[in-house]
Amino acid sequence: MASWHMNSLYFLFLFSTTVNCLFPFSSSSSSDDNSDSSEWTQYHNQEALEAKFADIAKKCPHHTQVYSIGKSVQGRDIVVIEFSTNPGTHESLKPEMKYIGNMHGNEAIGRELLIRLADHLCNGLNNKNEEIIKLINSTNIHLLPSMNPDGFELAFQTAPEDRGWLIGRTNAHGIDLNRNFPDLDSMFYYFENMEVNRYDHLLEYFKDDHSYEPEVQAIGQWTLSLPFVLSANIHEGDLVANYPFDASKGGSQQQYSKSPDDKTFRYLAETYAINHAHMAKNDHAPCDGTAGNAFARQGGITNGAKWYSVSGGMQDFNYLATNSFEITVELSCEKFPNGKLLPQLWKDNEKSLMEFMWLTHIGIKGLVTDAITKKPIANAVVWVRNATSTDGPIRHPVTSWITGDYFRLLTPGNYEVAVEAEGYETEIKAVNVTNSKKGETVILNFGLKPMPEEPMIENLPEDNTNDESMSDMININNQPVMTPERIDELKEIFSRIQEQGQYGPQVVQ
Ligand SMILES: *[C@@H]1O[C@H](CO)[C@@H](O)[C@H](O)[C@H]1NC(C)=O
Ligand SMILES: *[C@@H]1O[C@H](CO)[C@@H](O)[C@H](O)[C@H]1NC(C)=O
Ligand SMILES: *[C@@H]1O[C@H](CO)[C@@H](O)[C@H](O)[C@H]1NC(C)=O
Ligand SMILES: [Zn+2]
Repeated sequence: MASWHMNSLYFLFLFSTTVNCLFPFSSSSSSDDNSDSSEWTQYHNQEALEAKFADIAKKCPHHTQVYSIGKSVQGRDIVVIEFSTNPGTHESLKPEMKYIGNMHGNEAIGRELLIRLADHLCNGLNNKNEEIIKLINSTNIHLLPSMNPDGFELAFQTAPEDRGWLIGRTNAHGIDLNRNFPDLDSMFYYFENMEVNRYDHLLEYFKDDHSYEPEVQAIGQWTLSLPFVLSANIHEGDLVANYPFDASKGGSQQQYSKSPDDKTFRYLAETYAINHAHMAKNDHAPCDGTAGNAFARQGGITNGAKWYSVSGGMQDFNYLATNSFEITVELSCEKFPNGKLLPQLWKDNEKSLMEFMWLTHIGIKGLVTDAITKKPIANAVVWVRNATSTDGPIRHPVTSWITGDYFRLLTPGNYEVAVEAEGYETEIKAVNVTNSKKGETVILNFGLKPMPEEPMIENLPEDNTNDESMSDMININNQPVMTPERIDELKEIFSRIQEQGQYGPQVVQ
């Protein structure tokens, strides 16, 4: 996106400024609600957070639901407020998005901004703010301010001068929650090495003897329990929007590790960064003072593994276990600043937080149904390929929910979309995506024709499979192209892998 002209401007700024900002930390974003009231200059502890959510739910009874997804080690509720025109219900074709804050208990800004965002959305509804009404009309929004309430309480109760960099980071078992998710990156890379063409919902194959923390289990189950499309995990300690993959192949540090949706992820991260008061601007020093982390010079974004490789992180878990695209945003060099700075931090992030939620609608969505019975088809697999390239499909299909709806985030382009489901003929359609109107998704529905009969196992070549090595067996095509024949091949391969019992009991679909 940055033109030559922009780039040269960046460099000019870089070389002509010293570390401290030349530009005033001002923000022109309009902030309706009482930004200077003392309420927003103080941190909410667990009790205050729950009380505030109860208060918001009272102010906006028809558009909110407060719920707990489980408890922390020390028994605190992990609380969510949902905004929706029909809270508690997934309506077909209405996408779900989530924000999660305070995964590291001593990173407290995201927590406060999400409480404030909840208040802002509720006030917007009550004041008939057109944008907010439209957003909530079309999107189910789940705000989870504190994933690690125990860590927060520890940090909060520790005097600021004694907090250091790490007090309260972990949960009460001393575990870093952003290293405690199933390591699906290693599964992804393993399949890639073995040329197994399986890229999504990898939890189905994953098994280990690792123990998962209660907070991670609660988030994991929640993430799998709703058809989330988009997500952001909010941290502090730096100022940058970070996108998958977080783990590099082989674990080597600082290696750009592209996900199949690199382009879309970059766009998600850029949208957060450029709408932020400072993230993408060369008006501040890198948090660690080194040129290597001068993220503003690269538009305020970074690939996760290029920065530093992390396995067992939450963002890659979202992408590799579910249909949800998650990025990780770092909002400030300081993790737990004086509460007086919170109103300014809200102003700096308000536009980013709003614009990011609208991204839930980029790309395509649609309903997959049985052409005869008109009933929704669950777990249909939606593949997309760039129609102006000779490439195969993007190696990340999404699947339809039990309500038959699917959502596929995409950047502008011309695409071919193939939908396959067990027992149905695969259908392929062309679609052009422009994302030119905020909040308007191209709707592409599929009515699949039932297959006259089950694909017959007897038709498979009989003898040449049993004693071949796995890699021989699955090495049928390095460059998958999306044809019905290809999809049949994939099904066959996976049913054979499954028979071998290599990757657990789940039926591949
Ligand atoms: C929100 O949805 C309601 C009910 O469908 C509709 O009457 C209203 O016009 C919508 N408002 C906006 C701003 O889209
Ligand atoms: C599609 O492929 C063409 C040719 O490689 C490329 O120029 C274009 O940017 C791609 N579009 C998307 C949306 O990836
Ligand atoms: C997409 O746009 C191309 C021109 O860029 C056009 O040839 C094609 O027919 C369009 N496809 C659809 C499905 O609208
Ligand atoms: Zn963090």
